[in-house]
Amino acid sequence: MKAETKKVFIKTYGCQMNVYDSERMSDVLAPMGFEETDGPENADLVILNTCHIREKAAEKVYSEIGRIRQHKEARAADGKRTLVAVAGCVAQAEGEEIVRRAPAVDLVFGPQTYHRLPQIVARAVKGHEPVVETEFPAEDKFDHLAAAPRERTIARGVTAFVTIQEGCDKFCTFCVVPYTRGAELSRPVSRIEADVRRLAEAGVREVTLLGQNVNAYHGEGPDGRDWSLGRLLQRLSEIDGIERLRYTTSHPRDMDDELIAAHADNPKVMPYLHLPVQSGSDRVLKAMNRKHTAGTYLEIVERIRAGRPDIALSSDFIVGFPGETEADFEATLALVRAVGYAQAYSFKYSPRPGTPAAEMDSQVPEAASAERLAALQALLADQQRAFNEACIGREMDILLEKPGRRPGQLVGRSPYLQAVHVAGGDAAIGEMARVRVKSIGANSLSADIVGGQAESPACSALTA
Ligand code: SAH
Ligand code: SF4
Ligand code: F3S
Repeated sequence: MKAETKKVFIKTYGCQMNVYDSERMSDVLAPMGFEETDGPENADLVILNTCHIREKAAEKVYSEIGRIRQHKEARAADGKRTLVAVAGCVAQAEGEEIVRRAPAVDLVFGPQTYHRLPQIVARAVKGHEPVVETEFPAEDKFDHLAAAPRERTIARGVTAFVTIQEGCDKFCTFCVVPYTRGAELSRPVSRIEADVRRLAEAGVREVTLLGQNVNAYHGEGPDGRDWSLGRLLQRLSEIDGIERLRYTTSHPRDMDDELIAAHADNPKVMPYLHLPVQSGSDRVLKAMNRKHTAGTYLEIVERIRAGRPDIALSSDFIVGFPGETEADFEATLALVRAVGYAQAYSFKYSPRPGTPAAEMDSQVPEAASAERLAALQALLADQQRAFNEACIGREMDILLEKPGRRPGQLVGRSPYLQAVHVAGGDAAIGEMARVRVKSIGANSLSADIVGGQAESPACSALTA
């Protein structure tokens, strides 16, 4: 398998951690002669990097395996072997069960094993029995998986993800992450800094720090003490070439003073915060084991806005959690009205095997959940539109990331993470451009490039 070129197709589901992991998998497979391809038709190895967060997400994987089995059989008729691998959180949660349910699968391996991928794949190539690896080994997989500034990163653009923390110790009663990703682990500051320096040298201008509970970060600093995320952001903002820093996903409990201050004081920390609240009812939040109340959440929002009034807030919501009443749901709507979100994600509660909430009485009927979800989404869509409308006529800096669909058009991101379309002119990808927003579309803004340098832009619907 070594010398000749083989093709690998990686399909990624779920969160940004999986996006990052897929890139690292591709990196460790490259020295074995694997080149990435963009479809399963001619792939010698197909990897499905899966998500287990909701039932629908997990079921998608089995339908995809069905489709891939057809390619596998067609290739077998031509005398070619195709290895089918399931990685990610479904692999971790279901393990052996996957090969029982889907015999076309040759390999199953969990998120803690990716650095050992060459050995795992080599075993599958040699043998004909399915290989299943879902251990949580003691060694730190990150030691073996640096965020290399490989060609793909450069060609793909000027933004990159870097995982700084993995796993979660919060055990919200609805969530599988503590089981699929294991206990919380923070990478040392020096390693992250080295990754970000390499990326900056390769042309990356914006880095998003990733973790399931990223603001619980407490990695070892150069002084031997645990550093917080706020302190890490400060350090990374001093690296030449890095213009923008983002991080996701945060837990309200871990929004400490240093992190809030970073938003107020450090212009490279972007005014965007994804801070999932899940529900506005204290009774439901308690049953979810969220460790915050609606009131403490609103206080945090107030403190962040005191230092950074234009911050764009985002959240995740679950409707129809077991026992949720109409009054609980009304409390969620009230919280949304009180905050004013720039954008958000909302889901119907999905019982996950092995989680405490799945065993709770009084599961909410599907019809009630569907109705609540529609009402919540309508309110959130109104708020998103209001936030975007408040940007019309304003000037802001955008980072130009890629060509747009129309000739001469470029697409960038605003500080608030909105996609912004501009007519390119002399501006080039990788540059910051000062623009004036002229209109809003369904999912993006349209703007004209203007001269001059950015002052503090502000387009929050609340501060407008
Ligand atoms: N670590 C992040 C979220 C991880 S999962 C955090 O703590 O906020 C992403 C989102 O999926 C969650 O915020 C939640 O809104 C949703 N989610 C998780 N488990 C779910 C379930 N069982 N049913 C419905 N939505 C769920
Ligand atoms: Fe899941 Fe809660 Fe951990 Fe987020 S904080 S990953 S929702 S257990
Ligand atoms: Fe899904 Fe696993 Fe991410 S369950 S959301 S892919 S950590």
